[in-house]
Amino acid sequence: MKKIFLTGITGLVGSAFVVALLRERRQEYEIICLARKSPVKSALERTREIIRDECTFDGCPELADQILDSVKVIEGDVVDLNPEEMAHNPLLSGTEIVFHCAADVNLGKDPTGRTYRINYNGTENMVKLAKLLNVKEFHYVGTAYVAGKLVGTAFEDKPVDNGFNNPYEESKYKAEMLVRASGIPFTVYRPAIVTGRRSDGRIRKPLAFYRILEFLGKLKSHHCSKHNLDQTGWVNLHINFATTPSEHVYFVPIDYVQEAITALFQQPVCNRAYHITGDSPISTHQIENTICRVLRLDGTTVSDGPVAPTMDNKLMGRFLGDLFPYFSSDIIFDQSNVRKVLGDGILDWEYGSKGLEILIRSFYKDYFPNVEWLQYLANAPIDREPHN
Ligand SMILES: NC(=O)c1ccc[n+]([C@@H]2O[C@H](COP(=O)([O-])OP(=O)(O)OC[C@H]3O[C@@H](n4cnc5c(N)ncnc54)[C@H](OP(=O)(O)O)[C@@H]3O)[C@@H](O)[C@H]2O)c1
Repeated sequence: MKKIFLTGITGLVGSAFVVALLRERRQEYEIICLARKSPVKSALERTREIIRDECTFDGCPELADQILDSVKVIEGDVVDLNPEEMAHNPLLSGTEIVFHCAADVNLGKDPTGRTYRINYNGTENMVKLAKLLNVKEFHYVGTAYVAGKLVGTAFEDKPVDNGFNNPYEESKYKAEMLVRASGIPFTVYRPAIVTGRRSDGRIRKPLAFYRILEFLGKLKSHHCSKHNLDQTGWVNLHINFATTPSEHVYFVPIDYVQEAITALFQQPVCNRAYHITGDSPISTHQIENTICRVLRLDGTTVSDGPVAPTMDNKLMGRFLGDLFPYFSSDIIFDQSNVRKVLGDGILDWEYGSKGLEILIRSFYKDYFPNVEWLQYLANAPIDREPHN
């Protein structure tokens, strides 16, 4: 039985990994996780609740108790963690593997340095602890966007500082460098923009991109109330996504992330990084077009040229500006290591416009169940193309 010390179990990726690994390999692994409490729940209560939710999401609710039997919880925070003290925690004795997945995924400014502390100093603490525990493997969940402002192909090994779009990317790049320089055998997993699963588009915890869907839903609702329009009909919003359109937006389904990380985790560790991005990027126009078809929106454009300084355009910049670099990013994520280890077949999927439509519909169905007009549109057929 191998002992793993894991962070990030309450998150989107960490919970998916833990359930996938323990669903198949309960006899082989025991997971000790570091988790935070909330104002109303202990770390243990939160972990139990989230693992149960994840098991239900993954279609195996009956396995939740058995999976939880293999999980023990230490309440704590990666920033406050004292590696010397933690190394003496009896629960960690005999730990062979660290799986560090916790991070602050805020893509905006970092005025208080919180993102940097969690992502960089937190990783620094985890690396120190891993050394004190003398672990054999360090697994680190990074991000494909350590490639930052690169234009062209990003290779999996030897990451380069290309300049960054935000403190998140920079903190994750520097944290990955710490892991690489640690001297502990490592595997780095670098997901792109994690979105709904391939089968039905659903996601247990919508992050990042989903803010665009929420924003546009609310904007349409507000616009229709103000102008006394039917929310289920077509409306002209006159808004612009202030970004240069790209052909390389890497949406990656959560079930692919789960499958690829779980499979790679069980391979021999040989100081490699893997782009968990898939190989079928979509375009900014495809995304914009599909959202507009579902929400019945005319008059949206994608351009980083001068735009009307309307209230809606300003609001969009304020709420979604941190996401824009990901819709203009022109990086191609090389898949050599993934192909070498997992074979070409694992990359044989693509969302395409149909997959995008399914994930957009499922978001509105799952997260706005009481908003009648959104429920109507989430189920209605596409009746025409949007006019720009
Ligand atoms: N989601 C994406 O699109 C995406 C894309 C590329 C890379 N990634 C990477 O994937 C990893 C997991 O992210 P995610 O998508 O699962 O995000 P998430 O759902 O926000 O999960 C983040 C996890 O980190 C934990 N955490 C944050 N700050 C912590 C701290 N100070 N001490 C201890 N734990 C802390 C969170 O705990 P709480 O529940 O207590 O907040 C949560 O478990 C991250 O390393 C992220 O950089 C994610």
